[in-house]
Amino acid sequence: MNTTRCDRTPAWGALQAQFDAAGRTFDVREAFAADPKRFAAFSQSAPHIFADLSKNRIDAATQTLLLDLARQSGLESHRDAMFAGEKINTTEDRQVMHWLLRNPPLALMDKARADINNVASSLTEVHATLAAMLAFAEHVRTDAAITDVVNIGIGGSDLGPQMAVLALDEYVLPGKRFHFVSNIDGHELAAVLKKIKVESTLFLIASKTFTTIETMTNAHSAKAWFEAQGGTDIARHFAALTTNVAAANAFGISTTFGFWDWVGGRYSVWSAIGLPLAIAIGSQGFRQFLAGAHDMDEHFRTAPLAQNLPVRLGLLDVWYRNFHGFTSRNVAPYHSALKRYPAYLQQLEMESNGKRVDASGAALPYATSPVVWGEPGTNGQHAYFQMLHQGTDVVPVEFVALKTPRHTLPGHHTLLLANVLAQAQALMLGKADAGGHKDFSGNRPSTFLLLDELSPATLGALIALQEHRVFVSGSLWGINSFDQWGVELGKVLAKDVEQRLISGNTDALDGSTAGLLARLRA
Ligand code: F6P
Repeated sequence: MNTTRCDRTPAWGALQAQFDAAGRTFDVREAFAADPKRFAAFSQSAPHIFADLSKNRIDAATQTLLLDLARQSGLESHRDAMFAGEKINTTEDRQVMHWLLRNPPLALMDKARADINNVASSLTEVHATLAAMLAFAEHVRTDAAITDVVNIGIGGSDLGPQMAVLALDEYVLPGKRFHFVSNIDGHELAAVLKKIKVESTLFLIASKTFTTIETMTNAHSAKAWFEAQGGTDIARHFAALTTNVAAANAFGISTTFGFWDWVGGRYSVWSAIGLPLAIAIGSQGFRQFLAGAHDMDEHFRTAPLAQNLPVRLGLLDVWYRNFHGFTSRNVAPYHSALKRYPAYLQQLEMESNGKRVDASGAALPYATSPVVWGEPGTNGQHAYFQMLHQGTDVVPVEFVALKTPRHTLPGHHTLLLANVLAQAQALMLGKADAGGHKDFSGNRPSTFLLLDELSPATLGALIALQEHRVFVSGSLWGINSFDQWGVELGKVLAKDVEQRLISGNTDALDGSTAGLLARLRA
């Protein structure tokens, strides 16, 4: 692998010069007026997704320099290293192979790629585990006595399956209810326990490490509740989804589905962590979800950089973050079932790229991950879109819209599409009112992702697209997008504070925590 940090490439300086000369004052309305072919030049088809990037503050010269930046920083070499199973997660000395989870069986894989870095043997294990997990999912689907599936997990062991089960609600098997318990706040588990019965519930304990305090606490409480209600058949009512099968066995769970340390938590919905989704939409649906993602993998792996959608999105992210200085990105899915999509993307982007040192540990002289936030439209329009249109900060927006809905209620979808198009239009065009309260400055950038429908395959492609665009910006920034050391300190301190809450000991504690602790104990 041969990579160079973005700021050490000639293109970085050229981009700064381009920004100073034309980028800062770039007006997308003028660009459309000057170039009738702008829509075609700045749109991109990818598997299952059409993307319109033309409302962004980008022109051909900038695009060329960004592509130079990608080449000079070794993006292709880094990408190829990931797809070759090299240990690009250097701080944890691990391969990064979530893409392998959606790769077709070995027979379909290019032999030259399969033979290195144990990729072939990993793929064999992937398909054996997938077959076992999908057989279990089918068994649960046909078991009419099981009506409730409770997933206990947090972070990547919650957000992926929860987001996908909600998103694909139109495909979910009638007669099964899905619950997701993640928070250590007992209110969440208690509320679910009120709704379920021992004999009709399957608990899935989802944790890559099987040590996460929230998940272990909730799992112990669920098991205690199960036994207190007279439940005895743990093998039937509990399954574990984990890389730590030994710990699951020690917990008393014998039904386990494993995965591997080369799957990051936030990249794990494609693994056994996806079991709730597989139960919800069936093995065929789950395979379509994987296939849609694989289509995007192949696009990312093989399309020329200039026609590569994850690359184009990731480069735009760098342009906005490092040259325009935009601090956040709003995600606005115009589909009510994509409720947890913004939260899912928050972990994906911010846990991956929220880093202040490069892969060698040196402090970075430029900004990395933006804040990612959002809500489904049209709801957001009646809440924070005011700020997007007239606030002092420019926030690039990323819309998602579907051509065809799955409901048949007349009128709704046309109105929904009219709204998403109108919002993108309003952000760009603005409306002059000479400095008054009704003035919209316009020239506010947005990207428009268009799917024919929301299906297992298109959702798979959309999520894989997002994974790869995060890879692209992380790669250019020279950071390791696959570790998350930043979550550790809080975990360690919580253990200490828990003891102090019990004992009341405030020795050597900072003044604020000591004061709050005293009030809580009073
Ligand atoms: O604390 C952060 C984190 O490690 C995430 O990266 C991960 O998705 C989550 O916790 C849950 O971890 P686990 O699946 O091991 O319980």
